[in-house]
Amino acid sequence: MSNKISLPALIDCHVHFREPGLEYKGDMQSESTAANAGGVFTVCDMPNTNPPTSSVETFRDKVARASKIKNCDIRFFFGITESSHLEELKKLWEDEELKKRCCGVKVFFDHSTGDQKASKDVIEEAFKVCAELRIPIVAHCEDAQINEDARHMILAKAGDSNALDVSFHSLMRPCASEAKAIEDAINLATRYSAQLHIAHLSTALGINLVREAKEKNVNVTCEVSTHHLFLTTDDYKTLGTLAKMNPPLRTPSEQQALWDGIADGTVDCIATDHAPHTLEEKQVDDQLSAPSGVTGVETMLPLLLTVASGGWPHPTSSRPNIPIFQYSNIRKLCFENPNKIFQLGKPDEPRITIDPQKEWVISGDKLHSKCGWTPYEGWKVVGKIDDVL
Ligand code: DOR
Ligand code: ZN
Repeated sequence: MSNKISLPALIDCHVHFREPGLEYKGDMQSESTAANAGGVFTVCDMPNTNPPTSSVETFRDKVARASKIKNCDIRFFFGITESSHLEELKKLWEDEELKKRCCGVKVFFDHSTGDQKASKDVIEEAFKVCAELRIPIVAHCEDAQINEDARHMILAKAGDSNALDVSFHSLMRPCASEAKAIEDAINLATRYSAQLHIAHLSTALGINLVREAKEKNVNVTCEVSTHHLFLTTDDYKTLGTLAKMNPPLRTPSEQQALWDGIADGTVDCIATDHAPHTLEEKQVDDQLSAPSGVTGVETMLPLLLTVASGGWPHPTSSRPNIPIFQYSNIRKLCFENPNKIFQLGKPDEPRITIDPQKEWVISGDKLHSKCGWTPYEGWKVVGKIDDVL
């Protein structure tokens, strides 16, 4: 009898493939190859490219580029940072072909890579328009004011930002900031009856807010990122700026809350927020000025398979309390739920065969992302793709 496991081709509903404009970090071809090697055959790409995906023209250009990529179905989020982008969105929605390639709208409550923060007024307008057009709206939830206040306080105390190592990044973007933005986003979704999806939720407070909103039947879903499930602030000492991302790494108790959210069904999706930057960009003296973002599209599946096998891949931390996490959870979180939430229409049929017992070691130079590094270097994982139909 075969002990192999079959899964559908996985969906990663949050990636940054960097094309156009940032191809030196990664491009559609290189990052799709990495995705395929990680069992992912459908991705939803974020709009913070150069130019940003905020007009019909830039959207059309991305679709044309993606049509040349075999084996990876790349869908795109439309970015809104100004009112005029909503007019473009309305035009896009009249084009049946382009509309099919759009998985939703993305709004940022604070700046991150690409500086796409929108004002509160524009965000509110975006919720209203997305509700009218029935477009899912994905929110990067970090409150700009709380982040700014935290940053100022820390810098005032330290005097010189060069004296601060990367671990201060987590203090400059505190848990309360995520909670405040999630609260605002849920209020807007409620007011306008919009379909809200919260990206890379990273805190216990955030999980609780989503749990409560779901109990009140607000149309809200959420995802957690692989790096927040496997890394914590304890990892800064070994990873340095490779562990810098937004929202930032949190403490082990926040990490536990994310696994609890998976266990009770509050968390709908696991996504990678795959965001390649080059090693040169990451290895700067002033650690807080390093770009935020971490790779992950090729390593999500083996990390999750390791947990499903009863293990824990982190070399030095112990396994959080994870009562049940099975292969069926991977199917739900990385295929069924994102397929439904973003109406991707992907067939639920077995495509990847996995040898659940195969042990191997993650190594950046064997991975396919153009940037060539991984925060999981040297980690022992269990479970490997055996075959792809
Ligand atoms: O860490 C992050 N990196 N967070 C984001 O919001 C953007 C992303 C990127 O594009 O590098
Ligand atoms: Zn992202």
